Amino acid sequence: MRVAMIGTGYVGLVSGVCFSDFGHDVVCVDLDAAKIARLNRGETPIYEPGLGAMMEKNVAAGRLSFTTDLAAAVKGAEAVFIAVGTPTRRGEGHADLSYVFAAAEAVAAALTGPSVIVLKSTVPVGTNREVKRRVAAARPDLAIAVASNPEFLREGAAIEDFMRPDRVVVGVEDDATRKAMKRLYRPLNLRGPSMVFTSLESAEMIKYAANAFLATKITFINEIADLCEKTGADVQSVARGIGLDGRIGSKFLHAGPGYGGSCFPKDTLALTRTGQEANSPLRIVETVIEVNEARKRKMAEKVIDACGGSVAGKRIAVLGVTFKPDTDDMRDAPSLTIVPALIGRGAKVVIVDPEGRREGEALLPGADWAEDAYEAAAGAAAAVVITEWNAFRGLDLERLREGMAGDVLVDLRNIFRRDEAQAAGFAYTGVGRGSV
Ligand code: UGA
Repeated sequence: MRVAMIGTGYVGLVSGVCFSDFGHDVVCVDLDAAKIARLNRGETPIYEPGLGAMMEKNVAAGRLSFTTDLAAAVKGAEAVFIAVGTPTRRGEGHADLSYVFAAAEAVAAALTGPSVIVLKSTVPVGTNREVKRRVAAARPDLAIAVASNPEFLREGAAIEDFMRPDRVVVGVEDDATRKAMKRLYRPLNLRGPSMVFTSLESAEMIKYAANAFLATKITFINEIADLCEKTGADVQSVARGIGLDGRIGSKFLHAGPGYGGSCFPKDTLALTRTGQEANSPLRIVETVIEVNEARKRKMAEKVIDACGGSVAGKRIAVLGVTFKPDTDDMRDAPSLTIVPALIGRGAKVVIVDPEGRREGEALLPGADWAEDAYEAAAGAAAAVVITEWNAFRGLDLERLREGMAGDVLVDLRNIFRRDEAQAAGFAYTGVGRGSV
């Protein structure tokens, strides 16, 4: 099928590349000429395992191209995906839909034949219907259908999530569009994931409800972790013990410094705003947001406590600052709260992160950067793990400790075992590990 993908952010680029890998002809469009130039040189603007190779393969096969020319890309396309950003509007919490509407109107103006406009951007309930109304008003001469197709990929595992999804959710209103969406995803049907066809409104709600539920699950285990610390229980055992119950499930029960990233913080906030406006408040989600924000601040206190109540004048090595491993994304990362708080209390912070430096340097002023964990920890009073990169899991803890001036290891992702850390000479603090 001929596909146009409007927006080459995380979702747009990964989806466009993966659809081309299915054998569809895909043209990816972005207003950002510099970004398109980079893509045309074969460079990926984001760090995402596997993406570069898949892009190269499909460009070489002639199925994938990049352009700033929306009208040319849309011409003759059977499906036009809109995957532009929906940032939080400044000062409130609503998703900013101006990019979505602008893209939909530009697409409608450029279409030369019947087509389906598919919204992949995360948009509040009612947006697809509004897009449908605007598109119909702009092009009464053309049959343009609208479908909602929210994306559930995780950064760092995006290709895998797209290629092997638990489900594909599609909101449609007519049979021809349903068939077109089935054709688009046919290669996946062979592997048997379920396609959930539903209304436009339900598809939109599924996306927000899924992210809000996952954010709630993380926040729940984080609070249980705090209680474990007070009572002598171990949160990892508790997570395993409850996760084996099929009704609960073991995923997203890793206690840590609080969730971050480009989705959970933005989407939970937007959902609560929708709830308030509809006079149907989501009190659980509102509390999750509050608890998560407070948690990020509390993590800095945890480090200061582990350092004996003060970090003034002390060198602190920070291992990992991206919001999670396998991404260079710093959006709403817990480190953006923790590192400035430590610096504000007089610490000299030295950071190491396999991919985070490019974005992180500007976002974390006053911190120094090291090439590896041993360099970061040299002479440090404490080492603090904020992001669980694999590169840190295999560290030689004895070597790390030997280079340090102090013996404090604060492991906010529980990547080390207490007994191993202690054997290497560390005074170890994890998250929710109250037991001896
Ligand atoms: C999330 C969802 O997982 C995807 O399904 C969804 O498509 C995406 O948002 C989106 O809406 O676009 P992502 O933000 O890439 O994906 O990252 P996650 O792996 O979900 O992690 C989010 C945050 O939660 C990270 O800060 C992570 O460290 C934290 N987390 C996750 C935990 O603290 N504990 C866990 O057990 C899992």
